Amino acid sequence: MRILVTGGAGFIGSHVADGYLAAGHDVTVFDDWSSGRRANLPTGAKFVEGDITSPRLVELVDWASFDVVNHHAAQASVRASLERPDEDARVNVYGTVNVLACASRAKVKRLVFASTAGALYGETELRPTPETAPVWPESPYGVSKRACEKYLLWANKAGAIKTVVLRYANVYGPRQGTNGEAGVVAIFTRALLRGEPVRIFGDGEQTRDFVHVSDVVRANAVALTAGDGGIYNVGTGIETSVNALYAKIAASLGKTVAPRHDDAIPGELRYSSVDATRLRRELGVRCEMTLDDGLRDVACAFKQL
Ligand SMILES: NC(=O)c1ccc[n+]([C@@H]2O[C@H](COP(=O)([O-])OP(=O)(O)OC[C@H]3O[C@@H](n4cnc5c(N)ncnc54)[C@H](O)[C@@H]3O)[C@@H](O)[C@H]2O)c1
Repeated sequence: MRILVTGGAGFIGSHVADGYLAAGHDVTVFDDWSSGRRANLPTGAKFVEGDITSPRLVELVDWASFDVVNHHAAQASVRASLERPDEDARVNVYGTVNVLACASRAKVKRLVFASTAGALYGETELRPTPETAPVWPESPYGVSKRACEKYLLWANKAGAIKTVVLRYANVYGPRQGTNGEAGVVAIFTRALLRGEPVRIFGDGEQTRDFVHVSDVVRANAVALTAGDGGIYNVGTGIETSVNALYAKIAASLGKTVAPRHDDAIPGELRYSSVDATRLRRELGVRCEMTLDDGLRDVACAFKQL
């Protein structure tokens, strides 16, 4: 297949593009370098530099030449969205609608979209949280991802293009940046390897569902041919506290230094995990990388940098 991966120079998009290339697909990456890195660019992929919010987006890419658009380009920070909801909406909502319009007008068959789980479900006692749970985004980032999902579901229902929404839990793996708040595995690993102090916000008992990027890649692979009109959680269903995560990473690197606890971040989600039964039953994808194995993989990759 001929596949356009937006955001393919970023953390997750570059792994997804690698996976497609390894499966023999023809891959073009579209990215504006706002948070992507040249070192991430998959070998063997073509590259088009550009901004998904460009009014000239339709001219920047030969849309009609693609079978699938895999859309990962986004402003991916919850905190940035709280500071600049307007900018978040411009990139995430307008940018996605722009991509959707170009793809559907050019009769691209399918659009696979990287959505979010934690930022959508918000604080809930229903955990692991299934896709059927009420959605209550607690940040502009969550609101914009939900808006995008609705546009895609509308386009799918209208027959304009087939769409698949993948709602990721907390993705981690090699190449993850250490700037965003989502990259706690990368942040802890890099700091410990450099002998720098590690800060944990709040008491550290907040939990997340950490899913290795290789499982996300497999979900994106299956979404090329299945899941039309569907929404799928991508996660392990296992909650790990930030304290436990730190202890695991420190132990695996042979470090004994204690972390420092800073003030909790206001509004930060307390507990989060997702139920990915639908992904397993309908698409046959099981998120199977254990956290211990995944953390070893990240440590290995970061040691080589
Ligand atoms: N990391 C996670 O745990 C997580 C969880 C849920 C959802 N997601 C979603 O997955 C996707 C990828 O996230 P990531 O963690 O790899 O982030 P990332 O910042 O590493 O990747 C985003 C990529 O998009 C590019 N980009 C941003 N704005 C652009 C624009 N206007 N035009 C063209 N390219 C643009 C960036 O340069 C970067 O290469 C995002 O849509 C994000 O919202 C990530």
